[in-house]
Amino acid sequence: MDTMHWVGLSGSLRKDSYNTLLLKTASTLLPEGVAMEISSIDLPLYNADNDMPIAANRPEVVNKSREILTKADALVIVSPEYNYSIPGGLKNFIDWHSRGDDSPLLNKPVALMGATPGMWGTVRMQLAFNQVFQFLNMKPVLKPEILIAQANTKFDENGNLIDGKAKELVGRKLKALKEAVLQLRK
Ligand SMILES: Cc1cc2nc3c(=O)[nH]c(=O)nc-3n(C[C@H](O)[C@H](O)[C@H](O)COP(=O)(O)O)c2cc1C
Repeated sequence: MDTMHWVGLSGSLRKDSYNTLLLKTASTLLPEGVAMEISSIDLPLYNADNDMPIAANRPEVVNKSREILTKADALVIVSPEYNYSIPGGLKNFIDWHSRGDDSPLLNKPVALMGATPGMWGTVRMQLAFNQVFQFLNMKPVLKPEILIAQANTKFDENGNLIDGKAKELVGRKLKALKEAVLQLRK
């Protein structure tokens, strides 16, 4: 079988982001036969005048990002929760990739995870994402849920996830994502 190609996105641009650390952890736990490229959500603010119906107006950085996602068999999104919802920067990224019959998000398998120093593990951000997944007919792998609470206690000084149970769950989630891609190919 060819190597499966995934794209990983962190919903936080913060240098010491727990979510970026979690994404890096995920890239060490990939199932056999999977490679993951990490891409950035850092795009200009969405402006529909520069999107559909005149896709030629899209900023070059958006075109490049759409190409990267188009080539991906699946996405891994690891994000904080901002004000009980999806961070604006990540939602902006989603919006730039959401329009047109060639939207790279349509029908895409996706695994969503989140980390927060708080107690609720990004659950409200993850629930908010269900609406996005529904509109774009994405194929979220819902179980196991990865809700890393008290993230400030879950990584060592080198950025390694030290919660063994969480690590095992991340591995299981990534396996489920691979299964979802294989199912979709059938
Ligand atoms: C604008 C903003 C809104 C936030 N809202 C929430 C929230 O609703 N729930 C939560 O658990 N933490 C919230 N936090 C705290 C974040 O979970 C915390 O800053 C976390 O470290 C961000 O993720 P990161 O480490 O990947 O950057 C918020 C932080 C910011 C900056």
